[in-house]
Amino acid sequence: MKPELASISNSRQDTQSLLSVRDLVVEYSIRQGSLRAVDGASLDVHPGELMAVVGESGCGKSTLAYSIIRHVPYPGEIKGGTILFDGQDVLGMDRKALRQFRWKEIAIVFQAAQNALNPVMRIADQMVDTVLDHEKQPREQIIQRASSLLEMVRLNPDRVLRSYPFELSGGMRQRVIIALSLLLNPRMLILDEPTTALDVVTQVYILDILADIRQDLGLAMMLLTHDIAIVARVADRVAVMYAGQIVEEGAINDIFYHPRHPYTYGLIQSAPSLIGDLTKKKPIEGAPPNFLNMPSGCRFHPRCAYATSVCREKEPVMEASDRWRVACHHWREIEMGE
Ligand SMILES: Nc1ncnc2c1ncn2[C@@H]1O[C@H](COP(=O)(O)OP(=O)(O)OP(=O)(O)O)[C@@H](O)[C@H]1O
Ligand code: SF4
Ligand SMILES: [Mg+2]
Repeated sequence: MKPELASISNSRQDTQSLLSVRDLVVEYSIRQGSLRAVDGASLDVHPGELMAVVGESGCGKSTLAYSIIRHVPYPGEIKGGTILFDGQDVLGMDRKALRQFRWKEIAIVFQAAQNALNPVMRIADQMVDTVLDHEKQPREQIIQRASSLLEMVRLNPDRVLRSYPFELSGGMRQRVIIALSLLLNPRMLILDEPTTALDVVTQVYILDILADIRQDLGLAMMLLTHDIAIVARVADRVAVMYAGQIVEEGAINDIFYHPRHPYTYGLIQSAPSLIGDLTKKKPIEGAPPNFLNMPSGCRFHPRCAYATSVCREKEPVMEASDRWRVACHHWREIEMGE
């Protein structure tokens, strides 16, 4: 039995949000045309909340993250929408305001950031430079804060501060980057695939550390990943992204055990890190669409076992209750897994 909707609306406005993204459109201008990597994405992150954004490679996760700090790489451009952080209009900020905003309000751990540490500088100097880039502080004070953050990510501060990046393992470097991103005490941390290059045990270890940090510092987090199972242990809510659009969103416990969108169900079935029987994992059939030649109607229809003619003809609208939202013509009827 499907639950009845208490109310349905297409655009939930959320006055409690720390971060509020509405109808975001981001395009890369490439030789073949305009590639719309994010197409009308809306989401909210509340203070202290951990929001996961999940989807296959190329669905637009990193582009979404870059947009939030207005750092979309060339030839990308934000074409529409609004981004509010604690009520401030991020897209309207001048250079000075943007500089304050990045790192001090929102910090980001970029995808593969563990490889971006300067190889010829000791970690201590990289910590000091990062802070001095933004504000004047005595070196001892910076080292003190760096030490306590390194302890928080379960590293030995004395050893690590003296080290060069090559002296640390991949997992340790990732933890250094997380500590570095927290130096200016941001209210929100965005982590783009923070565990992808690491072995499963280290992935779990880092997620536990993130959970501790969130509890100790009370900051909000947005965690972008292709692996819904790994975030199920730590996230409060999840937004599922397909071909530049958010197709489902809600509390992780609800979405993970009762997905309404067939793509979400596919992600859960194919999740590489689920503890359990590897032989039961089923990859989603077919490939993500070409952004320059999107399928008509529902973008997922060529890969969806439940697709009907309406799916091929009409784009589904987002339907929302006060706890979740989904964009699928048939979410009411389909019993996932049958
Ligand atoms: N600099 C760029 N120039 C042109 N196209 C780009 C650029 N960066 C990303 N894209 C395209 O935009 C789309 C979204 O890419 P994005 O990197 O945001 O996805 P992603 O979900 O982060 O993928 P992954 O999981 O592989 O990191 C893809 O089709 C990608 O090819
Ligand atoms: S709208 Fe149709 S094609 Fe798209 S996910 Fe739902 S059932 Fe599948
Ligand atoms: Mg990415």
